[in-house]
Amino acid sequence: MATRGHQVQLKIRNSIPSGGDVLNSATNSNQPRILPRAYAPLTGSVAVPGDKSVSHRVALLGLLADAPCEATGWLVSEDTLASLKAVEALGARVEREDDRVTVTPPKVRPTADVTIDCGNSGTTCRLLCGLLAGWLPVGVSATLSGDASLSTRPMNRVVDPLRSVGADITFLGNPGCLPLRVTGAALRGGHHDLPVPSAQVKSALLLAGLYAEGATTISGGGNSRDHTELLLQTMGVSCAPGDSGAELAIVAGQSLKAFTIEVPGDPSTAAFFHVAAALVPGSNLLTTGLSLNPTRIGALDVLRRAGVQVEIENPHGPPGGEPLGDVRILQAPLQPFTITEPDVPALVDEIPILAVLATAATGESLITGAAELRVKESDRLAIMAANLGQLGAAVAELPDGLQITGPTTLRGGSKDLPLMLPTAGDHRMAMAMAVAALVSEGEITLDDFSCVAVSFPHFFATFATILGDGISDRPF
Ligand code: S3P
Repeated sequence: MATRGHQVQLKIRNSIPSGGDVLNSATNSNQPRILPRAYAPLTGSVAVPGDKSVSHRVALLGLLADAPCEATGWLVSEDTLASLKAVEALGARVEREDDRVTVTPPKVRPTADVTIDCGNSGTTCRLLCGLLAGWLPVGVSATLSGDASLSTRPMNRVVDPLRSVGADITFLGNPGCLPLRVTGAALRGGHHDLPVPSAQVKSALLLAGLYAEGATTISGGGNSRDHTELLLQTMGVSCAPGDSGAELAIVAGQSLKAFTIEVPGDPSTAAFFHVAAALVPGSNLLTTGLSLNPTRIGALDVLRRAGVQVEIENPHGPPGGEPLGDVRILQAPLQPFTITEPDVPALVDEIPILAVLATAATGESLITGAAELRVKESDRLAIMAANLGQLGAAVAELPDGLQITGPTTLRGGSKDLPLMLPTAGDHRMAMAMAVAALVSEGEITLDDFSCVAVSFPHFFATFATILGDGISDRPF
């Protein structure tokens, strides 16, 4: 591979245009497009967009605050806009200029029924189930629906524990799936032991606990992301380990003070750039302003275990808030790695891109305890196994993970017969395949580019910039 060094400076967060055009950018057209290959090291710096999980919580907790809440660095994407539209439908006033968002809570709660389209966003609908169950006035309903993918994803994981404390939730179509109707009811406190360490379920139960009679305690959250707890604490809500040994306890009747926060960069989005830099020879890439929340940086540990040089620069952040810093990745020869069940919550969204990394490591990498990936925006184990297999990787799909033996030179198709890979409409599949294409021979197209708008509308534009003139024989 010919390499030509060049410097790249990207300021993605400053370049997000306002308005719906961001989600319809020509670079994200859903026409099949050829993915670029890297012919130069990735260098310079990338400011990835704001964290998706934190941005959802800004919208949803802003609805409950005692005064207007403000966020800068907010992620403008289809998923997070679904949360913002939801709180607007519930009576909040929402103002947004680029990545600056103000949510002014309503003076009164809804008195008429509301309908909310959650789009593709599991976080929006699962957190809303918990929030609405006790916040809506008794007898007032909200109907939650979603797109085709979200309508197949399991909702019983939030609905069952919420019903056990008095929530009134009815499935309107297939049992256990959207659409569903939440009707305001008097909730009781209670103890919940989560069978899966899910931040969405934990957060839904915490939000329900804010409006329940008596204490709500939760165990089994493991090291799942703690953004709801951190933002509640910023709002002056006590949400700490319970006396009984429960991981979390929350009581109703607490006032939720308004917040002003800067949303940190999303480590799950940064992971695509981190793995790209780990794969492309000679790379030395800095990603700036990332969340270094310990519940979110499991992928950095995996990169280190794989032999990649990972340097944390400029660590900072408000006391008690989200820790921040810059992450530099220096490419190095790759060793195989293992990921087991306890590792999964801190890197659950990064497993597809770590599977791409494994194809370049010398030896067998093993990912287990990750059956949750089968119920994400797509069955990510099946799609990754199929797509990496199509590219020639030695990959075996396990019931709860992937076994990948490397190194393999990934291979696409020819000019006349390019290889078309499916994304199943899943943003993280599209981005993972774009990274794989950087180091693949031959031509690779994706069946759908537009799904990246779910979490990173400017992904492909950013990619084109980062590669600069290193993609001359593959126009992008
Ligand atoms: C999220 C939690 C995770 C993650 C999802 C966002 C959140 O899901 O996969 O992308 O914001 O709480 P689970 O709670 O189902 O693990």
